[in-house]
Amino acid sequence: MDLPRIGLGTMGIEDASVIETALELGYRHVDTAQIYANERVIGEGIAQSDVPRSALTVATKVWADALAYDAVIESTHESLERLGLDRVDLLYVHRPIETYDPEETLAAFEELHQRGVIDHVGLSNFSLEELEQAQSILDVPIGAHQVEFHPLFWDQQLLEHARANSYPLVAYSPLSGGRAGEIEAIQTVAEQYDETPERISLAWVIAHEGVCAIPKASSPEHLEANRTVGDVADELATDHDARALIDGIDRVEELYPE
Ligand SMILES: NC(=O)c1ccc[n+]([C@@H]2O[C@H](COP(=O)([O-])OP(=O)(O)OC[C@H]3O[C@@H](n4cnc5c(N)ncnc54)[C@H](OP(=O)(O)O)[C@@H]3O)[C@@H](O)[C@H]2O)c1
Repeated sequence: MDLPRIGLGTMGIEDASVIETALELGYRHVDTAQIYANERVIGEGIAQSDVPRSALTVATKVWADALAYDAVIESTHESLERLGLDRVDLLYVHRPIETYDPEETLAAFEELHQRGVIDHVGLSNFSLEELEQAQSILDVPIGAHQVEFHPLFWDQQLLEHARANSYPLVAYSPLSGGRAGEIEAIQTVAEQYDETPERISLAWVIAHEGVCAIPKASSPEHLEANRTVGDVADELATDHDARALIDGIDRVEELYPE
């Protein structure tokens, strides 16, 4: 899949005008999930915008209680009805827990892919072992893997798996879930670059080859600040000292443990 470097995370967004504004500003990848209970709002925002559906990547996720074969098929059609769409570009297994059964769940995802209901099969919050198991079952390639990825928590092995298998790693909570300003190394680099800690956190995330991010933002100011961070990321990518400082942060603050 070819995803833009910056997409829109929507957990907590309850106002369709935020989606409409984001699309007007240039966002083209919108990420939601059944468990966010806002698919209807996302669909309204897409419908209100002038951006054609064909220009968008819309992703949603099947929650852990609906991963049995029939439940995947049924709940995906319910998602489509709420979104007001006839297909989604990317459908994720949100977490491989509870009703997740690798053979059964992934067979249902493949069936949806075959029927043209979804363009790509996504996985989220998978361990390396779970990824390899899924790959051995799936007849289609992994479309994307969405994981927690920010200076306080990231996994080099998952990044290497994504690169080796040529699918994008989609970074969630790339602004460190609102904690970027508390991290000393981020503050130091932010001062050097005359940037906000949030933009440095996000720029550091997408400075990794093969990684794209889905920061959540509500205000036009935040939406624009995040969308335009590519230049800072390019500068950071070649700034070995700044990268090393941020890479050296302890990676222990998982915001969304299982
Ligand atoms: N797959 C999964 O299991 C999973 C788990 C968690 C999250 N996600 C996805 O990832 C998305 C993002 O993660 P997240 O919401 O946890 O955290 P995040 O994107 O790291 O941070 C969002 C917070 O940062 C604020 N913010 C946004 N832009 C800013 C800026 N430029 N300067 C200062 N503050 C800014 C937002 O405030 P405002 O809203 O007020 O702008 C919000 O409070 C979610 O919305 C969801 O789509 C997926």
